[in-house]
Amino acid sequence: MSRGQFIPTLTDGVFLPGGDKLNNLFFCSQCGYESPKWLGRCPACGEWNTFTEAPVRSVPRKQNVRAGKVDATAKSLGSANTRTITRVSTGIAGLDRLLGGGIVQGELILVGGPPGIGKSTLLLQIAASVAKSLSQPVLYVSGEESTGQVSLRAGRLGINEEKLLCMNESETGVILGEIERLSPSLLVVDSIQTTYDARLPQPPGSPVQIRQCAQELLDACKSSGFATMISAHVTKEGSIAGPKLLEHVVDCVLYFETARHDIYRILRCYKNRFGATSEVAMFEMGEFGLKEVPNLSGMLLEHRSRTPGSAIVIPVEGSQPIMVELQALVNRTSLGYPRRQSSGVDYNRLILLLAVMENHLGIELSQYDVFLNLAGGIKVYEPACDLGAVLAIYSAIKKKQIDASAVFIGEVGLGGEVRSVPLLGRRVEEAERFGFRRAIIPSQPVDSTIGKGGIEINPVSSVIEAVKII
Ligand code: TYD
Ligand code: MG
Repeated sequence: MSRGQFIPTLTDGVFLPGGDKLNNLFFCSQCGYESPKWLGRCPACGEWNTFTEAPVRSVPRKQNVRAGKVDATAKSLGSANTRTITRVSTGIAGLDRLLGGGIVQGELILVGGPPGIGKSTLLLQIAASVAKSLSQPVLYVSGEESTGQVSLRAGRLGINEEKLLCMNESETGVILGEIERLSPSLLVVDSIQTTYDARLPQPPGSPVQIRQCAQELLDACKSSGFATMISAHVTKEGSIAGPKLLEHVVDCVLYFETARHDIYRILRCYKNRFGATSEVAMFEMGEFGLKEVPNLSGMLLEHRSRTPGSAIVIPVEGSQPIMVELQALVNRTSLGYPRRQSSGVDYNRLILLLAVMENHLGIELSQYDVFLNLAGGIKVYEPACDLGAVLAIYSAIKKKQIDASAVFIGEVGLGGEVRSVPLLGRRVEEAERFGFRRAIIPSQPVDSTIGKGGIEINPVSSVIEAVKII
């Protein structure tokens, strides 16, 4: 849409060329679901009271075809030219892998995460790396920090790229104008919540503004072919309007997560039109910005405790196994009722496992407070950690330390059975790599290559069996 074009206000409807009136559009500020009328509850995501009114974008039909920008003939898939995709490296190997081999020309990438996690830092690092490798400039637009602040940060990160241009701006019209002038190879917008379209009455950060700005940036990057990365904050509950709303507009959605106090950051891919979504990249925030951590297991195991209640589990993130310590603590209940608390582990999962333990291991748990913690503050718990959780709690109750060279892999079912898990071989390999000597695994049919590295394999079919052999 060109800048001078008519944008209807929120109070008038839109008149179609035939003279029909189309009422304003309503959309869910949580998930972006659109409806011609206001709804109390979103039929897509089930949230209440999230519908917001927005003008209908009136793009003349087939405008792009007439301008010769769009090839409007249907082709067979085999003959479609896929080789025109060019990728540019972000300068971070793990991130390139996450994106499916690098940033694609004309791709719109969303980087979401809570405030302070490192979105601006990551974007600046990527911007500098792209500016270094391509001849066209990179435009870094910050609506949150002044140019001076960005430059200070760049100095700290050792960034001094001639072709990395920075501006402190929030109005999309101005940003689009600068894009036209510079034709950058990459545009960074930090953040979408501060950008606004001056023609709309809503404040920056409102669902209508976010949608409008994202759409304008999308139009520009698709028609001119430069890649765009936009950042967006989310609260812990993911509740602020923005990222969720944008997910279906953008090509790629990356989310940063971690426990707040933790120095490790996991960047996870939730959507990718140019690659798989199973990958994750791990980072450490240090004095000089974000550094990729190719070996998170080693880091997480560094400070492991060797006390009762500690067990090593191997969840898989993306396709990468990570070794983490599960810590359980039990106390005699002092209040009238037993407390259960979990961190990094789903609370309901903990309750379920405790019920299984009471039933099948015959432990009276109502007299104990139980705390379960996945050390390192990272949220990577999955059912394959169940066996480790049961044994950590058991070991804490019995006040007996578990063999420190053992790892536990297996999902625990309600019948106390130890169930099979995917990617067992990978998990065992990771344990071998770190010198563990014993793996307690489900008694599922296993690949003959498992345990070839010399680790002792102990298949168990139930939690009772697992407790006996430990
Ligand atoms: P920032 O990238 O501004 O986070 P976001 O854009 O997601 O809000 O920075 C996150 C935090 O990282 C900030 O509190 C300062 C810290 N930090 C470092 O520890 N080292 C560094 O080199 C940089 C640039 C930031
Ligand atoms: Mg920031």
